[in-house]
Amino acid sequence: MMRKMITLFALVVAFALSYVLTDVNAVDKTAMKKALKDSIVNGAKLYVDASLGTSGKTCNTCHMEMGRSKKKGMMGTRGFVGRDPFPKFFPMAGRVMTLEQVVQFCIVTPLKGKPLVWDDQRLTDLTAYVNSIYTSKK
Ligand code: HEC
Repeated sequence: MMRKMITLFALVVAFALSYVLTDVNAVDKTAMKKALKDSIVNGAKLYVDASLGTSGKTCNTCHMEMGRSKKKGMMGTRGFVGRDPFPKFFPMAGRVMTLEQVVQFCIVTPLKGKPLVWDDQRLTDLTAYVNSIYTSKK
């Protein structure tokens, strides 16, 4: 009886330990990191892609040096390093906007393009890239 109970106890402990020690998220976390990295890389390509609009301009025409420029560009634009994150008041539109909305705003207004639907991967990628500049140190 005692031995059976000890065996049972040992089994329960072993099962619990194996559950704790196996990081069920380990694989997913790597895949998640890669997905974000890929999105940022694709966004950087879109950043210099004039086909988002019809004006022949790209994001980089105004927010130069891939969005890292400290100098003022066309229409007084600047880069994004160290600027306050969105949502915030966006003077050109006269209201509070999210980063996605401002990206769309610049696609529609300066780039003279069509707005992307909310779940378009290109909107995700472009926003992921631009956000990575906001949060980068230099
Ligand atoms: C013809 C010039 C022009 C082009 C091209 C352009 N923008 Fe803008 N953008 C502006 C101006 C002007 C502002 C407001 C001034 C500023 O904040 O630098 C602005 C502001 C922004 C802001 C908000 C900055 C802040 O923190 O307030 C983001 C983000 C942005 N643009 C992203 C983009 C993206 C992404 C593209 C490409 C799809 C793009 N812009 C293309 C002119 C442009």
